Amino acid sequence: MDMEIPILKGRKVVVGVSGGIAAYKAADLTSRLVQAGAQVDVVMTPAAAEFVRPLTFQALTHRPVALEMFSLWQETEIGHVSLGKRADLMVIAPATASTLAKLAHGLADNMLTTTALACRGPILLAPAMESGMWANPATVANMEVLGRRGYFSVGPDSGRLASGAEGVGRMSEPDAILDAARWVLGRNGPLAGKKVVVTAGGTREAIDPVRFVGNHSSGKMGFALAYAARDRGAEVTLVHGPAARTAPHGVRAVAVESAEQMQAAVLDAAVDAAAIIMAAAVADYRPKAAAEHKIKKTQGEMALELVRTPDILAAVTTRRAQSGSPRVVIGFAAETCNVLENAREKLTRKGLDLIVANDVLAADSGFGVDTNRVILIDAGGGAASLPLMSKQAVAETVLDRLAALLGRC
Ligand code: PMT
Repeated sequence: MDMEIPILKGRKVVVGVSGGIAAYKAADLTSRLVQAGAQVDVVMTPAAAEFVRPLTFQALTHRPVALEMFSLWQETEIGHVSLGKRADLMVIAPATASTLAKLAHGLADNMLTTTALACRGPILLAPAMESGMWANPATVANMEVLGRRGYFSVGPDSGRLASGAEGVGRMSEPDAILDAARWVLGRNGPLAGKKVVVTAGGTREAIDPVRFVGNHSSGKMGFALAYAARDRGAEVTLVHGPAARTAPHGVRAVAVESAEQMQAAVLDAAVDAAAIIMAAAVADYRPKAAAEHKIKKTQGEMALELVRTPDILAAVTTRRAQSGSPRVVIGFAAETCNVLENAREKLTRKGLDLIVANDVLAADSGFGVDTNRVILIDAGGGAASLPLMSKQAVAETVLDRLAALLGRC
């Protein structure tokens, strides 16, 4: 699996750590940002250094940690405003009630608040505090002020707090903060202002209340596409079948079960969309009627009468013929043999601009796994065979093609 994330690669990210018990999670966040390819500088408040030693962050980033406002050495090496000035993004995690209050009032009394005040890039806050402090009108007002000034925020979540009590105030998990950071960085990307519909996962066609006809789709490919589209600034609607995954930050997720429900959600979202990418494994057949109660077994055999489900892509391209929208339609083709020929036939029959032909028989490709082996076939007949890649890398390539197709429209 690639650890690098294109939207973070080479970006200058300042992680500001203020003094709360969640400071230990900032180490994990920092490590993930470094692994994603970002150049990370850490700024700590003196209180944060009581919870986690600066050396931890220095070891993770291989860069000096900014802590002392009036250190001669740090002033020459770092400068009290230079980190903020050159940052593409500052993430303050945890952002305590005290730090939020200082930011809301423009105080610059430690390295973190000074860096934030000098920061020219966007600032993402990950608040963490006791529920009472979070609900306090002073904190609520401070968050409102910061929101109006363009600060972004993620969390806090509900759960177990440092006191042992349950409530709102837990800092979001490092994964969720990293995801929000990607959204912030990508929001002015090449697909900014464009609506993109992505489908993911498999559909389930009910036989009775407890059984269904389904397939092995995990949703990994479709979710990776949603991340890649979101990271380019697109307004993404992700229509997905049952999947135990969290939707990417900033993405509108619509959960469905059956092919019919997926068609309704897709057609609804596609009305003013610029593009649609159908990675979902949609059932081609469903039981003619779902039994109202659980079907009891008998000694004999049982036959299931199946009828066709709607072809969602065909419905999308038929409507496009009348309305012109969505401008770009991309499908996938899950194939076990004659991959190229079968995919080409689907591209033509469904009226697509691009089809991602997917060899789903190989153990490292297709359903459930983290990697994929695909051929990109365009409407002009051109075919590009990609090597075995992570699904994230496949998604990035597909999104690059989508951006090029939209550029040509
Ligand atoms: O979810 P993962 O575990 O990560 O697996 C990824 C994947 C293998 C599901 C994915 O890479 C993939 O190949 N998706 C397409 C699966 C599929 O249904 O292929 P198909 O050849 O049967 O359908 C062709 C196209 O028509 C697809 O874009 C499909 O979404 C669409 N379709 C199919 C049936 C239907 N009734 N309506 C449709 O629109």
